Amino acid sequence: MNRKYSAGASYRKKDSRQVLSTDLSRSNPDRTKPIQYKTKLLFVGGLLVLVLLQFSWKFFLLESPVPPGYHEAAAVLDGNATATTRTTTIGSCSGYDGVLHIASGDQEGAAGTIFFLFVVNQLIYADMYNLLPWVHLNNVSKYVYDDKVHGTGQTAEFEILCGKTASWASFTDPITNNQHQFPGMPQGTNLSSCRIYVEGNGVWNSYFEPVFSPTDPSCASLPLIRMTYSQIIPSLHVFAPWSVRSWRYGGLPPSLRQLDKSYQEWFAPMRRRAHSIVKKYFRFLPYLHERAVEYNPHSQCLALHIRHSDKANRRKRIPVPRFLPYVEAYYNHQMQQRRDHPKNDILRSFSIYLATDSSTVIDMIQETWPKEIQSVLQWQKGNVLRSSNTTAVFQLVGGNRHHDGNVQVLTDILAMSRCQYIVHGLSAVSEAVHYLNPLLHNQSVNLDDRKKDIVSVEQFRIIMDRVTNQ
Ligand SMILES: *[C@@H]1O[C@H](CO)[C@@H](O)[C@H](O)[C@H]1NC(C)=O
Ligand SMILES: *[C@@H]1O[C@H](CO)[C@@H](O)[C@H](O)[C@H]1NC(C)=O
Ligand SMILES: *[C@@H]1O[C@H](CO)[C@@H](O)[C@H](O)[C@H]1NC(C)=O
Ligand SMILES: *[C@@H]1O[C@H](CO)[C@@H](O)[C@H](O)[C@H]1NC(C)=O
Ligand SMILES: *[C@@H]1O[C@H](CO)[C@@H](O)[C@H](O)[C@H]1NC(C)=O
Repeated sequence: MNRKYSAGASYRKKDSRQVLSTDLSRSNPDRTKPIQYKTKLLFVGGLLVLVLLQFSWKFFLLESPVPPGYHEAAAVLDGNATATTRTTTIGSCSGYDGVLHIASGDQEGAAGTIFFLFVVNQLIYADMYNLLPWVHLNNVSKYVYDDKVHGTGQTAEFEILCGKTASWASFTDPITNNQHQFPGMPQGTNLSSCRIYVEGNGVWNSYFEPVFSPTDPSCASLPLIRMTYSQIIPSLHVFAPWSVRSWRYGGLPPSLRQLDKSYQEWFAPMRRRAHSIVKKYFRFLPYLHERAVEYNPHSQCLALHIRHSDKANRRKRIPVPRFLPYVEAYYNHQMQQRRDHPKNDILRSFSIYLATDSSTVIDMIQETWPKEIQSVLQWQKGNVLRSSNTTAVFQLVGGNRHHDGNVQVLTDILAMSRCQYIVHGLSAVSEAVHYLNPLLHNQSVNLDDRKKDIVSVEQFRIIMDRVTNQ
């Protein structure tokens, strides 16, 4: 398998500019030779700038050209997805053109990436082609799979038509003229009845209500479609113009990369699209809601997502002290609210909810942040997996604790989505929080945005005043 495109740890260490300017089949730079790599990068980068200046300087001044059909696909998807509420429950297949079996994400992704990027993008595909989505994951996404928990339980067995697959669609990037392929319309006419038998609970069912299950007899006359692994990664993840993404991945064509945009602008349509999908198809099981409320009991809160451990190269670790001024601004704002509205019960208590994969971050905060801030700070306590170094949590533990890791990440995501504000960097987990609570889009601080676009502490105060006075 081509590990290079996986969304997990190894993929994150890749520098975007390398892939942009060189051939796509190169393997990861050797991280023990940073100087040589930098020199190469400078050289290739310089060449690239010259070439671009020569031929495509106007692209830096105009809005990035987007692939053909990009706006149309996005508009149709956004329009349709927003208009529908959840109509699919377990049961009838009538009215649909097929069943999409969502069977895996990539190999390296952890819970945030698998559930909120790979599953969401396949759900978008299902909506585009009027397919009923059946989320039943196998063990390919190894960091979310836990044999003890997911390998047992229900088996599913049903009749359906086999012989249809996702075709390949493509677009030509207007800047590089490279052609990129992504999953297109379902194709195949030689259909025959077949029996599907799957063991295990499909991972998904440990955390969410089933989206749909094709065991109804009305499904037997529909074709079952599954993406191949290379359609899922890199095609769906990197090249599909309508996919949602959690940062500018390496390998992303310039017309999708859209470097003329701030992350705030870049994320806006993707967050809208993902929100409508999540609203339509995601139902967390009650125990996860209960955990989220247990660790973050207040409806008034500021979420902090401080991702350290394996966050690397392209995405820098954000130093913990950079979060503090925003935290203090929020604290002061809430205290003022409390003084201004002494009779308002909701304003009486508030919290600052910290989600982090690093025990070092918690230690540092406990040692350096003011006592009054610590008095309102909440985080998942108890037997929680956190890393004290640069190894990712999901790589630290064996397969038999992947379920625990999933529960903790999903609890963090839900707990943060209860908040009115979030200060964060680039990550699938932060995006998931935005997908669940779209109001956060204009009420968040992305410390990984372009320097000039980062919401300042002063601007953050103005946002809080606006939200409070609405
Ligand atoms: C969107 O909805 C319209 C009207 O219901 C329908 O004709 C169209 O095919 C839908 N498009 C997609 C991509 O689902
Ligand atoms: C994944 O499942 C396949 C069978 O579907 C099995 O052969 C393989 O050993 C499993 N791998 C792991 C890591 O559990
Ligand atoms: C149609 O599919 C069946 C089995 O699925 C296969 O045996 C047969 O050769 C196929 N026919 C054609 C024309 O491809
Ligand atoms: C991080 O710590 C764990 C044990 O806590 C260890 O197994 C792992 O090798 C360490 N990783 C690095 C990169 O130091
Ligand atoms: C964010 O603010 C912009 C500009 O005021 C507005 O157009 C947009 O609809 C807002 N987005 C959300 C999700 O509230």
